[in-house]
Amino acid sequence: MPLPTALTQRLGISHPIIQAPMAGGSDTPALVAAVGEAGGLGTVGAAYLAPAQILDAAKSVREKTRRPFGINLFSPLPAPTPPKDYTAAIAQLASYFADLGLPAPTPPGPPAYSFDDQMAAVLESGATVFSFAFASVPAATLAAAKARGMTVIGTATTVEEAVALEKLGVDAVAAQGSEAGGHRGSFAQPFEDAMIGTMALVPQTVDAVRVPVIAAGGIMDGRGIAAAFALGASAVQMGTAFLTCDEAGPPEAHKQAILNAREHETRITRAFSGRPARGIVNRVMTDLADAEIPEFPLQNALTRPMRTAAGKAGKADYLSLWAGQGLRMARRQKAGDLVQKLVKETEEALGRLG
Ligand SMILES: Cc1cc2nc3c(=O)[nH]c(=O)nc-3n(C[C@H](O)[C@H](O)[C@H](O)COP(=O)(O)O)c2cc1C
Repeated sequence: MPLPTALTQRLGISHPIIQAPMAGGSDTPALVAAVGEAGGLGTVGAAYLAPAQILDAAKSVREKTRRPFGINLFSPLPAPTPPKDYTAAIAQLASYFADLGLPAPTPPGPPAYSFDDQMAAVLESGATVFSFAFASVPAATLAAAKARGMTVIGTATTVEEAVALEKLGVDAVAAQGSEAGGHRGSFAQPFEDAMIGTMALVPQTVDAVRVPVIAAGGIMDGRGIAAAFALGASAVQMGTAFLTCDEAGPPEAHKQAILNAREHETRITRAFSGRPARGIVNRVMTDLADAEIPEFPLQNALTRPMRTAAGKAGKADYLSLWAGQGLRMARRQKAGDLVQKLVKETEEALGRLG
C-alpha cells in the first residue's frame, strides 16, 4: 500500500491497518497474529482478563508471530455506585436466565484484580503497543509504558478528549466516530454529546492535535481507508470487519447476526454492561431500552452468565451483539485475506481518485 506513514514506521508495520481490540474473547491470539503476519497491527483486548490471562494471551500471540502487536485495557474508573438493592436489576434479567436454564443472577462481588495489576502484566507481555479507552490513564502508567519502549494510543470521541490525551503525552489518538461497534470511549462528557461521525471527527481532530490520528468507526473496506487518509488519518482501527473473520472468537450466532443485519439495525445500549455500546438490536436491548441499569462494570458482571450461556446455546437474543454501522460490508474470510484485500482496495480507491 502506498501509504507508509510516520506512525506505521514507528509501529513497525507494513500497512496502516489496526485490528481493534475487542475485549470479551473476539480478538483471539490467532486473529491478532494473523493480522500481524499480514502486515497490520493486531491488538489483544485485555480489559476483562486477569493478569495471568493477559500474560497467557500475549505468549500465545508471540508463539504464532514475531510481528509487533498491541494490548488494550479499559482505563481505571471511579468505583461504581451499586444500586441500593439489586432486586429490580436481577428481576429484569431473571426470565432470560430462566430461558437459558440458569439460576437467577446474584449481586456481583468486588473485582478480583485492579487496573494496576493488569498494567503490570501488560508491561511484561512483550507487546509493543499499549492502547486504552474509557478515560485517561495515570501519568505514571503512561511513563511506565514508554519506559518499556511501547507506543501509547488513547481513545477520543471528541476533539477536546483528543487534546486532553495529547497533553497527557500519548503517541497517537484513536478517534472513535459514532458509527463504531462496541463501547463508546467517551470520558469528558456524556456519551450523547459525543456522537460525532467519523467523517466529521477525524479532520477536526487532525486539525487540533499534532500526534497521529487513527480513524475508527464504520471503516470496513479500502474505500473507507482511502477516505480516512483523505481526512488526514495516519491509520485506521477496524473492529466489526475483523469480527466475522475465521480466526475471530465471538459466538457463531454473533457472526451470523452481523452477516445478516443491515446498517439501520444497530443502536447504543447500556443493557449488557451498564456503559453505552453499539450493538445489533435484539430482545434484551429492546426490552431494557428504558430500564434502570446498574453502572459499568456491575451490569456487565450481572449479565455475564447469560451472555456466556447464550453463546454456547446459539441464542443471539441474549448476546451483546457489538457491531458498527458498516456491518452490511462484513464478510466471512481469513483475517490475512481481509488485510490483503483491504490493501488492494485502498490502492484501487486511491487510483480512481487519481
Ligand atoms: C466486539 C467489539 C469489542 C470492542 N472492544 C473494545 C475494547 O476492548 N477496547 C477498545 O478500546 N475498543 C473496543 N472496541 C471498539 C473498537 O476499538 C473500535 O472503536 C470500533 O470497533 C471501530 O468501529 P467498527 O467496529 O465500525 O470498525 C470494540 C469493538 C467491538 C466491535
